[in-house]
Parts: sequence; structure tokens; C-alpha cells
Amino acid sequence: CFFISTSSNEFLDCISQTISANSSNVIFTPNNTSYHTILQSTIQNLRFNTTTTPKPLAIITPLSYSHVQSTVICGVKSGLNIRTRSGGHDYEGLSYTSFDHAPFIVLDLTQLRSVTVDSEAKTAWVESGATLGELSYYVSQKSNLLGFPTGECTSVGVGGQLTGGGYGTMARKYGLSADNVIDALVVDVKGRILDRDSMGEDLFWAIRGGGGASFGIVLSWKINLVYVPPVVTVFSLSKTLDADATRLVYKWQHVAYNITEDLFINLLISPINNTMRVTINSLFLGTAEELMKVVSDEFPELGLQEKDCREMSWIESVVYYSVYLRGQSVDALIERRPWPKDYYKFKSDYVKEPIPEQALEEIWKWCLEANLILAIEPHGGKMSEIDETATPYPHREGNLYIIQYVMRWDEEGFNATEKRVAAIRSVYEKMTPYVSKNPREAYVNFRDLDLGTSYNACSTSYKQSLRWGRKYFKDNFKRLAMVKGIFDPTNFFCNEQSIPPLILPR
Ligand code: FDA
Repeated sequence: CFFISTSSNEFLDCISQTISANSSNVIFTPNNTSYHTILQSTIQNLRFNTTTTPKPLAIITPLSYSHVQSTVICGVKSGLNIRTRSGGHDYEGLSYTSFDHAPFIVLDLTQLRSVTVDSEAKTAWVESGATLGELSYYVSQKSNLLGFPTGECTSVGVGGQLTGGGYGTMARKYGLSADNVIDALVVDVKGRILDRDSMGEDLFWAIRGGGGASFGIVLSWKINLVYVPPVVTVFSLSKTLDADATRLVYKWQHVAYNITEDLFINLLISPINNTMRVTINSLFLGTAEELMKVVSDEFPELGLQEKDCREMSWIESVVYYSVYLRGQSVDALIERRPWPKDYYKFKSDYVKEPIPEQALEEIWKWCLEANLILAIEPHGGKMSEIDETATPYPHREGNLYIIQYVMRWDEEGFNATEKRVAAIRSVYEKMTPYVSKNPREAYVNFRDLDLGTSYNACSTSYKQSLRWGRKYFKDNFKRLAMVKGIFDPTNFFCNEQSIPPLILPR
């Protein structure tokens, strides 16, 4: 149901007057035939694509930076909440819905997606509406020796990924995506476009990992490109638990964060036919021969054989790692084909001490019972070398790996959702003894409203938010709130888990 308030009318009048020239391609209200298609185009989580999910009063799809500025100016004038969407992958749907029943609009940046690569300077400007796949593709077109450390799912948007960090297969070598940002263009609450010089180092720090939506709208990012060798090697092995896989996982905990930073080995532990299967996926920045030497010296238990290894270019490895694209050509990275969608709830944890073998056996039983997948990715390498205050992402030295609890299902309805969400929460609860404590840390890009939220998104206090804020950011949360207090003191850019402004008395 659409509730047209005075502020809603005021917003629509303001925005249609400001961008009247081509407004029919930019402003979409529920009266437009393409409203629903545009709204649903990048929604990934079907949990927030139901008839009862609160819908925006309008969707604005800017074609230029001035359209974004106008949206902010009209939003502020009419007091209407803006949800910014780049790739639409937010786990809790915060980029396209709102749970506090106030009217809102969606600012969808899909049309702002250019990637401009300067291969001599080894830098690029990438707009927030580009996908990670498009970014990697256009970088690789300029040079096969340049790449960028992004997450593994190529349909994720640059805007959401870089504002929250961005962890992927090259993080052990080069850090997060956000660690490699050197400039950005942001529309602030006054509608101004700021670059690194004009925004200053505090805001520039906050937008590189402080989570999307809190500080303004990031239009574009200048990134440092990184060296990738002409040949990389991937492998994928699967073992069921009866084949000594628990011992292998136990060993992996000691090896994966400590091994050469050219090697990334992650684990996917999933229920299958009444047992758990461990799938080991890997990217090595070098040849198969070099990889075999590293593995036979440091992780012989893997049982890796030369026939398991596949050499390819770095961009081919991006396709290989992108689950739904494996086996396709690199052109698939820019085709924006719709991906299979389902209902899901994810949670995350960091592990600092290896979990004992016996406890792992217990954990497999819980996962089997709950039908839950564990996606486990190593830290260490460059991730440990970066100081935990360098960017808002604080989970650095001392973290062996991150666990992502993955609950997916395909039945519609309240009961199915309740059952699955209760099951993932129960496993998360039981994991308490084995994961980080005080705070129990979580990754902001794996957004989880269970950690804490406010009913009325825009009136959260700093004190109330500490509960979840410290889990995502540890002591960096206070600095984030202070930056927010300077750049958006009235908390215009807000959602259910945005950073609240902290204004200290002078
Ligand atoms: P979306 O558009 O939903 O935005 C996410 C948040 O950022 C929202 O709060 C939004 O308002 C805000 N935002 C978006 N654009 C903004 C902008 N330009 N300026 C300011 N705020 C903005 N992560 C990871 O690190 N490594 C990985 O490998 C993966 N893999 C992965 C796979 C799949 C299938 C999913 C669904 C998600 C991941 N993620 C991930 C998590 C992903 O990084 C996270 O959900 C990002 O926030 C998604 O960015 P989008 O732009 O797609 O989301």
C-alpha cells in the first residue's frame, strides 16, 4: 500500500521540476509500467520481494551526477528518506525497502556504471553502479597484468561492496577492495560533490568500510590496480566427512591464514545426502608447478595432484570463482544476466583460535540438522599487516578466518521463513564458545539485523547502536559516529543500522 504524505508530494514536485528534461527516464512512481520491473531488477533476496514488503514512493535512476544532487536536495527539503542502491545485494534489503513504515524513495545507481582505466598510472575510476564483474572485465581488457581485489560474486555492486570493505580471493595478498581506494566522489547532505581533498581524511576514511548509506552517496571511486601474473592456478576438491575431511578442516585452520599470501584456499561445508561435504576452492597467483611445490611442502594433507590444477588468466579465474558463471566465457561478466534468486538469511563470525577436531564433528551435526552451509575464508597475509584503525574494517591481525552461515530456501511464506531463520540463529548461538568475544565480531557487508536495530531508523542514539556497532567496527565505531556528527548531524542518510551522529560537547 502506498501512503502519499505531504512530504511525498513535495518530493515529487521538487524532483520533477529539477530534472524535467528527461524525467520520464529517471523518475518512476507506481503508476509507471516499468516501476516494478526496475524495483525487482536487482533484488537478490526474495525475502524482501513479497507483496507485503514496503515499497518506495518512487525510484530515481539518475543519468548524471546532477540528478543525484537533485535527489538529495529534494529529499532533504521534503524530509523523505533515501535508500541508495548500487547492486541490490544487501542481505537485509536495506537498499530497497524500509522497515519503519515511513515513506521512502530508492535512488538506483545502475545507470552510473562507467569504468575508466589508466593502465600506465595503474589506477581506474569506477562508478558505484558498476558490478564487480564489469570492473574486473574492463581492467583486464587494458592489461592482463592488472587486476583488482574484489569479492567473489561478480553481480555485487561496486557501491555497496566498497563502502563496506570488499573481501575476496586476493585479500590475503592485497587487502580489501576498500584498502585500495585512493579517491572518491561523494554527494553530501548539502547536495555538494566532494572529492578526497574537499571532504578531508575523516570522511574519506569513513566511506572505505564504514558500511553503505550513512555518510552520503558515493558516485565514483578512484582505485589502485594491482599486479596479477599472466598465469594463475585454480583448483576445486570435494571430500565427504567419512574421507577424513574433519582432520583436513582442522589442519586447514592452522595453514590457510599462514601460508604464502599468493595462495587463497577457502572452504564450503554443505549438507548433502545425510552427511557434510567439504569443497575446497583455491586461487594461486602463479603457475601449477609453483603451487604444487607450496602445497606439498606446507599442506600435503590436501592430497592435491597436478591433474586437479587448472592454469588460466586472472580474469578467467574471476569467472571460475563466480559460482553461477563457472564454465562461461569472460564476456559473461558484462552481460548482466539475471541470476537464480532465492530466500536467504546469512550471519557471520570471526575465529581466532583453531576449533578442536571434536568440536568440528559437533558443528557438522548442527549444520546437518539445520540444513545450513558454512562458507569459510582465511585471513592473514596483507589482512594482518594493515592496522585495525587504518580503515573502519577492524578484523585484522589475530583473525584466522571468517565464517559465513548461509541459510537458503525456496519455499515462500511466513512459516518457511520463521523455521529457517530460527534454525540459523540456533546454530549461531551454539557457536558462541568457538568464535570471537567481547565483542562477538561480524562483517558489515554481511549485514545482519539480528545484531541490533532501531525501529525508527533515523532516531537511533549512539548508545543504543553500540550493541551492533562494536561488533562490526570495534573501537572504530566511535570515530565513525563522530565523522557522522560532523558531516550529517541531523542523520538524513539513515537506515535501520546506519551510523548515528555523535556530537561531543566542546
Ligand atoms: P546494495 O545496493 O544493496 O547496497 C548495500 C548497502 O550499501 C545499502 O545499505 C545501500 O544503501 C548502500 N549503498 C549502496 N550503494 C551506495 C553508494 N553508492 N553510496 C552510499 N551507500 C551505498 N561481500 C564480500 O566482501 N565478498 C564477497 O565475496 C561477497 N559475496 C557476496 C555474494 C552474494 C550472492 C551476495 C548477495 C553478497 C555478497 N557479498 C560479498 C556482500 C556484499 O559485499 C554486500 O552485500 C554489499 O553491500 C552489496 O553491495 P551492492 O551494491 O550490491 O548492494
